Amino acid sequence: MLARVGIFDSGVGGLTVAAALHRHQPSLEIRYVADTAFFPYGSREPEEIAERSIAVVATLVEAGMNAIVVACNTATSAALERLREVFNVPIVGMEPPLKPAVEHSRSGAVVVLATPGTVRGDRLARLQERHAGGARVWNIPMPGLADLVEAGEIEGPRVEGMLREALAGPIAEGADAVALGCTHYGWLRPLLERILPPGVELVDAAEAVARRTLYVLDQAGHHIDMRAPAREVLCYATGDAASLEQTVERLRAAGADLPPLRVAKPVG
Ligand code: DGL
Repeated sequence: MLARVGIFDSGVGGLTVAAALHRHQPSLEIRYVADTAFFPYGSREPEEIAERSIAVVATLVEAGMNAIVVACNTATSAALERLREVFNVPIVGMEPPLKPAVEHSRSGAVVVLATPGTVRGDRLARLQERHAGGARVWNIPMPGLADLVEAGEIEGPRVEGMLREALAGPIAEGADAVALGCTHYGWLRPLLERILPPGVELVDAAEAVARRTLYVLDQAGHHIDMRAPAREVLCYATGDAASLEQTVERLRAAGADLPPLRVAKPVG
């Protein structure tokens, strides 16, 4: 069966994963839902995020998507198990890349930047128990940062100020790896690379999740027609489609490496 991948996030963050998937397999059919009507997930209760996630994934499965990527750390934390109970298609989740950050670190001190919801969630605590080893870990909630990215603000004094303030302490104490625990923050990579001192590694999970998704598709027997022409990612917003389009334009204008995409009429 031909692979058709549904990806969702609360907004434009998961497009970092769509971009990585598209780079690997430009002809892969990707449908993307930005649940902008419920953005931000990061300040909502897990139960509500789980309900939203189920509703969004239902639209993607009904539209014929045969694998799902939860391209949102907050939704993975709140809903991955529930989604796997409810739906009979492979579902790939996304966690802060703590393990690779610890592996990259020479000092044994790492930072995880994430939404308040992800920082509060049991999932991150379990991840830390399993993978931190003896490393010192700062899990830093960044309320409001995804909101700025969602408005297309990925450069400038506000975002730069928030990041500098969050990172100054841990870096002064020797942290040398920063894990991006929210897909929105992937769009801040150029800014982060500019402000992080040399020798501090930036670790993003989007690429690993894209590779995992391709593996899962293969295991499920879904193939990709590699001779087919490159496809646009078809994007839906549960909120205002025009405002998603505007954000996409702002991100592009600020240099974000978005995949080719088209914003379609709202769903849900
Ligand atoms: N992009 C989402 C994540 O990876 C969160 C953004 C939000 O708060 O909605 O956690």
